[in-house]
Amino acid sequence: MSTEVPHSGFEFYDLKPAAPRIQEEVSAGLSRRQKTLPPKYFYDEQGSLLFDEITTLPEYYLTRTEIGILQERRDDFARALKKGSWLLEYGVGSGNKSRILLDAIQPSAYVPVDISSDPLLELACSIHDEYKEMSVYPICADFTNAFELPSAMNGKEKVAFFPGSSIGNFSRNEACEFVGNIARVVGAGGSLVLGVDTRKPASIVEPAYNDSRGVTARFNKNILQHLNARLGTSFRLDLFDHRANYIEDEGCLEMHLVCIHEHEVKIGEETFHFRQGESICTERSYKYSRDEVEDLAVGAGFVVDQTWTDAEQKFMVVLMRVKS
Ligand code: TRP
Repeated sequence: MSTEVPHSGFEFYDLKPAAPRIQEEVSAGLSRRQKTLPPKYFYDEQGSLLFDEITTLPEYYLTRTEIGILQERRDDFARALKKGSWLLEYGVGSGNKSRILLDAIQPSAYVPVDISSDPLLELACSIHDEYKEMSVYPICADFTNAFELPSAMNGKEKVAFFPGSSIGNFSRNEACEFVGNIARVVGAGGSLVLGVDTRKPASIVEPAYNDSRGVTARFNKNILQHLNARLGTSFRLDLFDHRANYIEDEGCLEMHLVCIHEHEVKIGEETFHFRQGESICTERSYKYSRDEVEDLAVGAGFVVDQTWTDAEQKFMVVLMRVKS
């Protein structure tokens, strides 16, 4: 990393996520009847670049729509959220969305949490440069598990931010548990700004995950390449096809890698058999109706305060407050 770590109002909390036991996780996933792979392995350097490209695709409406809503409603955020509170962001990206909220809320501290320390520190350093009055406390941690917060955060009014419809990548039950943890972290008087993709026809959802230029297909197959590099396996990318299908009843988009020719792959001492037509499920992305968002909030100990959406109701940004 070339960026120099700044001094005042900046502290890096490295909670060193346990070195993932990749081989065990992969082997467990591939031993199931419906084979799966842990989606976190999408994101090596190449995967992160491909994901950034996905967010610019004409078919991938999510990022563009969410940023549009955030920009359009910045005054609403300024009114609804107290200046000087602490902004805690789960997962960092380019920081485009973060900056919109930072400008609107003017928090006294920004606490971004992410499992990959390089992108986290890079963003934290540039934000610290740009917002001189604000403290920045990046935390490197796997936020799907409980993690410790800076003690300076005690007693401060807290706003959590979880954009990008990342909530959709949890099952509905896991999502409720996760949002429940956020409710405990922000505590009484705290709030959450959540970005959620809405339920809509398959004709709109599916192309977002199966674009005409094949970027999402490359992104999906890259998980195999990444595992080859990390585990020394020899997954052959040419033996799998990308498939995205939306199960409308469940409001769930599934991404699969479909085996197009029977073959075997060795992982350590184990051999995994792939039948022709069999698939590996690599990611699920649940979509939410307004009622489902309401249930999620209430089940987690929040109440929905305001919901903003775009003209076509393609995406929702939801402000929830801890139920008092
Ligand atoms: N959470 C976003 C979504 O479900 C981003 C995302 C996660 C994604 N994994 C993905 C986008 C795989 C495309 C493909 O859309």
